[in-house]
Amino acid sequence: MRIAMIGTGYVGLVSGACFSDFGHEVVCVDKDAGKIERLHQNIMPIYEPGLDQLVASNVKAGRLSFTTDVAEAVKGADAVFIAVGTPSRRGDGHADLSYVFAAAEEVARHLDRDAVLVTKSTVPVGTGDKVERIVRDTAPNLTIRVASNPEFLREGAAIEDFKRPDRVVCGVEDEGAREVLAQVYRPLSLNQSAPVVFTSRRTAEIIKYAANAFLATKITFINEIADLCEAAGADVQEVARGIGLDNRIGRKFLHAGPGYGGSCFPKDTLALLQSAEQCDVPLRIVEAVVSVNDGRKRAMGRKIIKAMGGEAAGKTVALLGLTFKPNTDDMRDSPAIAIVQALQDEGATVRACDPEGVEQASKMLTGVEFCEGAYETAKDADAVVIVTEWDAYRALDLKRIASLARNPLLVDLRNVYSHEEAAKAGLAYVGIGKASRPVGLPQTARAAS
Ligand code: UDX
Repeated sequence: MRIAMIGTGYVGLVSGACFSDFGHEVVCVDKDAGKIERLHQNIMPIYEPGLDQLVASNVKAGRLSFTTDVAEAVKGADAVFIAVGTPSRRGDGHADLSYVFAAAEEVARHLDRDAVLVTKSTVPVGTGDKVERIVRDTAPNLTIRVASNPEFLREGAAIEDFKRPDRVVCGVEDEGAREVLAQVYRPLSLNQSAPVVFTSRRTAEIIKYAANAFLATKITFINEIADLCEAAGADVQEVARGIGLDNRIGRKFLHAGPGYGGSCFPKDTLALLQSAEQCDVPLRIVEAVVSVNDGRKRAMGRKIIKAMGGEAAGKTVALLGLTFKPNTDDMRDSPAIAIVQALQDEGATVRACDPEGVEQASKMLTGVEFCEGAYETAKDADAVVIVTEWDAYRALDLKRIASLARNPLLVDLRNVYSHEEAAKAGLAYVGIGKASRPVGLPQTARAAS
């Protein structure tokens, strides 16, 4: 198959590289000439484990190339994927579809034969119909079949998620598009590694938003249960295990924390609410999820201040981790942003470190002192706070942290450690959804039981 990928952001670049690794011939396009030039030198625009090797090996094999020229990329293509951004429109939370529509029109202008145009970008229900109208008006003499193929990959695990997905969803309105997408994903169905679900285009568009909204709901649910555990003297990790072992609930996405962030959940939940409002079907559960999650991020700042005795003025807080999750440099909607603001508003000085996120963070956060590594950050701190659960913070020398800090206090917003581990190192400990003192049996006995 010959594939063109329009947009070389997260989804476009990872999908393009993985399709070429499947054996397809892929041309990735981007308007940003600097980005394409850097890709020619195998410099990745994003931090994603394993991506540079994957790109290099497929470029070397002659299956993957990069260009700024849409006409060149779509020439002879069997399938053209649109993977451009759909940011939240300022003010109303609608997905901004201008890049998708512009890309569809440009592709239709340059296609030299019938092809399938596949939307990979996350788009509200009904967008496929609009794209179809655009391409029909632009290229009335060609048959351009429009399909929807939402992407479910996670940052930091993107290649694995793409190559070993739980499922692939293809929304098609005709047999031609179905055949082309079946060929594109043949390597996955051959190994029977993933079910390829064919459905209608509108259904596929809703599946993407429903999946993200459901996952955001699951996280928000356990976060509220965590607050209840704290107040009632229970342990949210054990509650998560206790409910998650029920297969109907499932164990994944039940880690209580400082609230979800990133480029997808916040934007997609808002866009789903907008679509629902337009259809006059209010989604009250999703509305609650969005507002509870927003409130939670700032509440984490207050939690840290409370742990320091209620006063922030003149105190120094050391934040370990800034990105919205580990293994990414992405700071978009990271809880760290609201936490820093809440602490600074109350007069605290903030020091911080992150293995990959400092470059982005330094553009978004003012007045923060960025440090090299956990120990330098912890120096003279009144509270050391784990914000993001990077591996580098999972095996800290807690005694060293205790001796470096001015006040030996560990606030663990990701439940990486326990009361007992912290106490052994001489640190006071505040986790998420854990009673202020360990409940019942000691942790080790509980784990064994
Ligand atoms: C998400 C979806 O998982 C993916 O399918 C979709 O394509 C894009 O959005 P991503 O944003 O990369 O992927 O990250 P994910 O690993 O899902 O985490 C999202 C947020 O939820 C992070 O802030 C993370 O810290 C938080 N989270 C996740 C929790 O707080 N608890 C959990 O149990 C899981």
